[in-house]
Amino acid sequence: MMVSVAVLASGRGTNLEALLDAQEDGDLDPARIEGVFSDNEDARALAIAHERGVEAQFVDPDGLDRAAYAEALLEALDANDPDVVVLAGFMRILTPSFIQAYPDRILNIHPSLLPQFRGLDAQRRALEAGVRIAGATTHIVREDVDAGPIVLQAAVPVHPEDDVERLSDRILAAEHRILPASVRLFAEGRLSVGQDTVSIKGDLKITDTTLIVPEVTS
Ligand code: GRF
Repeated sequence: MMVSVAVLASGRGTNLEALLDAQEDGDLDPARIEGVFSDNEDARALAIAHERGVEAQFVDPDGLDRAAYAEALLEALDANDPDVVVLAGFMRILTPSFIQAYPDRILNIHPSLLPQFRGLDAQRRALEAGVRIAGATTHIVREDVDAGPIVLQAAVPVHPEDDVERLSDRILAAEHRILPASVRLFAEGRLSVGQDTVSIKGDLKITDTTLIVPEVTS
């Protein structure tokens, strides 16, 4: 049975691209991206969707407050009737009624190892905090921003010579791996979402490697 996915994206859409690439390679099955929605008419994400033959819709936020915009989005999504909504760089905060319309069916990707560095500029704040290990997280969306049960995480090292761009690129490459994998797990019905945590059914390959940064040699 096909699981229909709607993607909400505000910007350049590399995570959307990663999802579409995975779909093309058969790595998203049984999920299918059936609609892309944006609050930004010029979002590259919309152009990518057009190019790849996916229905793309700009939902105009002009003159709407947060609640009215969430209603407009809900209406647009309704026609699409998605099984899961993926926030892939969607820069607007959703309302409780939006979230309740898709209970435990909204996934978000965030460029940090949550619960650290919720909110904007996570990569810059990670650098400023001097962490040695950064990363990306997919999670189920709850009412608090960038909170909610974690699905997958990927860790990357922080290099001494990193600036925000270099670190962001390394984290982005990790995002592109865990977002499609999370959508697939969802579509396969393998996520069981509890109040605070997610458990994943079936065989899991856990690599028992310790990431120590920098690796200390004597
Ligand atoms: C990603 O870093 C995502 O984690 C964040 O916004 C960025 C979106 O990038 N929330 P893209 O539009 O998918 O290229």
